Amino acid sequence: MVRLARRRGVGRAAPLLALRAARAGVSRVRRAVERVVDRSPRSVFLRALVTQPARVGAICASSPQLAARMAAWVDPAAPGLVVELGGGTGVITAALLARGVAPQRLVVIEQSPALARHLAQRFPQVRVVQGDAAELALLRAAPDWPRADDGAPLPVCCIVSGLPLLSIPPEVRQRILHAGAQVLAPGGRLLQFTYALRGSSPWQTAGLVSGGRERVLANLPPARIDVLERLGGG
Ligand SMILES: C[S@@+](CC[C@H](N)C(=O)[O-])C[C@H]1O[C@@H](n2cnc3c(N)ncnc32)[C@H](O)[C@@H]1O
Repeated sequence: MVRLARRRGVGRAAPLLALRAARAGVSRVRRAVERVVDRSPRSVFLRALVTQPARVGAICASSPQLAARMAAWVDPAAPGLVVELGGGTGVITAALLARGVAPQRLVVIEQSPALARHLAQRFPQVRVVQGDAAELALLRAAPDWPRADDGAPLPVCCIVSGLPLLSIPPEVRQRILHAGAQVLAPGGRLLQFTYALRGSSPWQTAGLVSGGRERVLANLPPARIDVLERLGGG
């Protein structure tokens, strides 16, 4: 009798155990899929685009051609830091490193926490700061900013901006322009890409002067690179 009762118990428990095992299997697979999706640059970018469309300001990351043309305007041997604004998934960061900018001389500012995490994982040697480009002057004064032996913040010889200036609200845009022009060292260069193929660069309203421009058709949509300079510095 006892044996029979146990067998009956076992008979009722078996489907339950099988169901639990199947559920555990499904959540293991789901977690594995989520891990893979989280590492994919395209899905991190799309998530950021869905949550903050105006701040991301593009339907996809820049093409490698646009990134390479932006990087071509950067002198990797110039003394000081190269600061990238709006790193996204890191297409331009990768092009700057390929251009020969030392990772220790590169600082990337990205407002989206998910994209900043992605950048920090993808480029462990690069300083990735999760923050707002409008606060650049404050970020530069923070203790973790790269410093010279005498403790002074290293000068910024070049700013490479992937910020969607035209879709950012005017008040924030003004603060970004002011902060960027203020932090760029005299004689420094700033690069900005835009999908507006005509007109002057908003950076000119902050006192930077145009030093050239270039169209890059191999991008979706086609883009223009504006090269701006801060006068001075001999
Ligand atoms: C058009 S995407 C460009 C991404 C990448 N540089 C590229 O070329 O593919 C603009 C990026 O700027 C970031 N961004 C927008 N406003 C920002 C701000 N105020 N400070 C820092 N990053 C910002 C967005 O989160 C997004 O990653």
